[in-house]
Amino acid sequence: MVETLKLIVVEDYKEMSRKAASIVADEIRKNKKLVLGLATGGTPLGLYGELIRMHKEEKLDFSGVKTFNLDEYLGLDPDNEQSYHYFMFHNFFNYVNVDRRNVHIPDGKAKDPNAFCVEYERMIKEAGGIDLQILGIGSNGHIAFNEPGSKADSRTRVVDLSEQTIRDNARFFKDEKEVPRKAISMGIGTIMEAKKIVLLASGKNKADAIAKTVEGMPTEEVPASLLQRHRDVTVIVDKEAASKLTRRQ
Ligand code: GLP
Repeated sequence: MVETLKLIVVEDYKEMSRKAASIVADEIRKNKKLVLGLATGGTPLGLYGELIRMHKEEKLDFSGVKTFNLDEYLGLDPDNEQSYHYFMFHNFFNYVNVDRRNVHIPDGKAKDPNAFCVEYERMIKEAGGIDLQILGIGSNGHIAFNEPGSKADSRTRVVDLSEQTIRDNARFFKDEKEVPRKAISMGIGTIMEAKKIVLLASGKNKADAIAKTVEGMPTEEVPASLLQRHRDVTVIVDKEAASKLTRRQ
């Protein structure tokens, strides 16, 4: 077993969110021009809520921060309520002083999605690379939309969603049929170039994926397990998500 990940087990979702927010806030206070990689899904919602509170009550300043989101569904308009654009603005960006010109989210309506992916990589490089990347994890161990089998050196690209992910994400849609089958996603290689990574997980349905990520051998079949090869990854999980770990901290 390789042990390069820093594991923090907390009581519950609230504590996970607070802990993650304090890491993000510390990094922003150290570097006002932080390049922040952001995730969507239910997991980081509490983190965004806490960062909004810190902005309002503690004047946490996002004015110089650049953001890059991990992924977006292919074919969804930014105004579509199920798009990750909509999610990010309605759950975070609209409530903090981030400069919209500094916000980057893959364009699900790009005329030439493959060319867009190359351009997204270029923009990340131009910004100096991602300083801190926030990640959630799929119940199958995916990170961003890098499904099992994704290559360790993959870059931003158009991907097919797995059946498991389509089922998991159907809860955000009226009907499972409405869940897009494709997305644009940063690659594992892209994510691994972030200087610092924080992975969050909460709840029993993440327990298997977390056990494989933290205690399994790194394998492309569990994309998050490849994070063991990164120098600076902190995994923050609540007790339920930690429940299948054989050893705790
Ligand atoms: C989605 C996203 C991932 C996210 C994961 C978990 O498919 N593409 O970036 O981490 O699923 O989502 P949730 O936090 O809602 O469980």
